Amino acid sequence: MDQNIQSRVAVITGAGSGIGKALALALAKEGVNIVALGGRNARNLDLVKAEIENLGAECLAAPGDLRDLKTLQNGINAGLGVFGKIDFLINNAGIAINSPIEKVTAQEYDDIMNLNLRVPYFLTKEALPHLLKSDRATVVNISSVVGHRGYRDQSVYAMSKHGLSGFTKSLASEYYDKGLRVHLISPGGVLTEMIKLTRPELAGQQMILPEEVANAVVFLLKNRGNAVIDEIILHRPGKEPFLV
Ligand SMILES: NC(=O)c1ccc[n+]([C@@H]2O[C@H](COP(=O)([O-])OP(=O)(O)OC[C@H]3O[C@@H](n4cnc5c(N)ncnc54)[C@H](OP(=O)(O)O)[C@@H]3O)[C@@H](O)[C@H]2O)c1
Repeated sequence: MDQNIQSRVAVITGAGSGIGKALALALAKEGVNIVALGGRNARNLDLVKAEIENLGAECLAAPGDLRDLKTLQNGINAGLGVFGKIDFLINNAGIAINSPIEKVTAQEYDDIMNLNLRVPYFLTKEALPHLLKSDRATVVNISSVVGHRGYRDQSVYAMSKHGLSGFTKSLASEYYDKGLRVHLISPGGVLTEMIKLTRPELAGQQMILPEEVANAVVFLLKNRGNAVIDEIILHRPGKEPFLV
């Protein structure tokens, strides 16, 4: 098995912080060039780009609100303009709220479903013809343990991540014969801004590190062998094993 992924090109959403940033840096260490697509905080993306370049890889930072389909189209086109190909797409950007159904507004519902579901769907559609030209074509969807279980006060987030699972399964079947590998990563609590904002009561507990999620993805991308891994579930140490 060829484990070398040097000079491959990965499009990663939400690479300005948290899991996306850890993913971008871990792949850059392997020599993968990065299209850091989307992010309303352009400064964050510039900082990540500088770190990637320090590691010896190249990065195109394409900031913008991913909920605008133009950001997706322009980002893919800009990435192709610079690197000429796409080997890996990592649908990572996502948001969550911790709120009971009677308090959830239509705007909050639309924002979560849009970023967590509509964006991966249409970004994948945009990238697909280019991905299929690669001999290592891979889509990685960052879901959550909430994609398996209905945690209280997380109904919209749970719906969005369950939906992402459905999309992942259909996409994997639809394009399996064309050489596309599609993986679902379902972590529990990861130490990022998201969990600090949505689950402040977990402060002080041992959490999964963003770099540990990134390591799992790097393993998948490097080990494209006969043993096909559909999904990786990761839980934090305080959780009961095999709960999902
Ligand atoms: N942290 C956890 O415990 C945990 C557990 C399981 C799964 N996950 C999943 O992991 C993924 C990454 O989350 P994280 O924990 O790393 O959170 P994070 O640090 O808050 O990162 C989310 C990223 O998404 C970007 N983003 C948000 N809204 C956007 C928009 N409208 N347009 C463009 N970019 C947008 C943010 O950039 P800007 O703010 O600059 O726009 C940010 O870089 C999410 O899909 C999340 O559901 C997280």
